Amino acid sequence: MSHEPASDSGVSVTRRGPFAIWTLDRPDRMNALSRAVLRELGRLARAAVRDEGLRGVVLTGAGEKAFCAGADLKERQSMSLEEVREFLPLYRASFGAIDALPVPVVAAINGVAFGGGLELALACDLRVMSRSAQVGLTETSLAIIPGAGGTQRLPRIVGLARAKEMVLLAQRLDAPTALAYGLVNRVTGEGESALDCALALIAPLAHAAPIAIAAALAALDAAADMPLEQGLSHERACYERTLDSQDRLEALAAFAEKRKPVYRGF
Ligand code: COA
Repeated sequence: MSHEPASDSGVSVTRRGPFAIWTLDRPDRMNALSRAVLRELGRLARAAVRDEGLRGVVLTGAGEKAFCAGADLKERQSMSLEEVREFLPLYRASFGAIDALPVPVVAAINGVAFGGGLELALACDLRVMSRSAQVGLTETSLAIIPGAGGTQRLPRIVGLARAKEMVLLAQRLDAPTALAYGLVNRVTGEGESALDCALALIAPLAHAAPIAIAAALAALDAAADMPLEQGLSHERACYERTLDSQDRLEALAAFAEKRKPVYRGF
């Protein structure tokens, strides 16, 4: 396991086999999102696209208290109105780069995830949550609104009625409620860390066929945005990407030979 310590960017990077672990590493600020952190997340996501051995990413926070307490409110206090306006597109670019990754990204919500912290988790494909953590889009309590995709991604995941309740009332949800809403895929077991829970969840991806996983992600990600007929055409186009892969032939051969397939990613 290699470890790249947190630089000034506030994100540390670890490798666990075919999985990358990106840790928001500013525990003294509850792992809040500074400009440097956002830029680094975007840089990591764009670089990960070229990493052929990568099969998944886990995004988590340092320490036990926070996954991410949202925008760095101390940094924000020192910013002019113009600077804040210029800063907001950085969320879209960096969270968008995470959203667009061709490998699954799982948020291991190890502690509180509020505001931009939850919005970051919403840009991931899967979410697991520590049983003692809390999550919420609490921005309206700070006289602003979710500005990093929360008003758009949250209703796609939990439905409009629940999203309205959460945002308008600035609710902080506990783990059982988040699980019941379908906001998180798993809650940690007794004594289990969010990171271990996330790694256990995505462990099967180590042996999965990467072209199929990327195609499935591309097809699923469009589901909420397209009318059915257009979506079915998009699914067909995504399917096409798998057809001339060697891995598809390997799957058929392995089935015939009653053995496990060995996928190689081409
Ligand atoms: N930005 C910058 N620093 C933050 C922060 C943020 N979003 N959230 C917490 N911190 C800092 C605190 O200022 C404090 O620093 P200090 O010791 O120098 O005063 C430190 O992290 C610990 O926070 P504290 O509030 O003392 O811990 P807590 O356990 O009592 O509460 C939270 C933790 C996250 C519940 C609370 O800090 C909070 O509500 N933060 C704001 C979260 C929020 O609304 N985010 C949405 C932003 S849009």
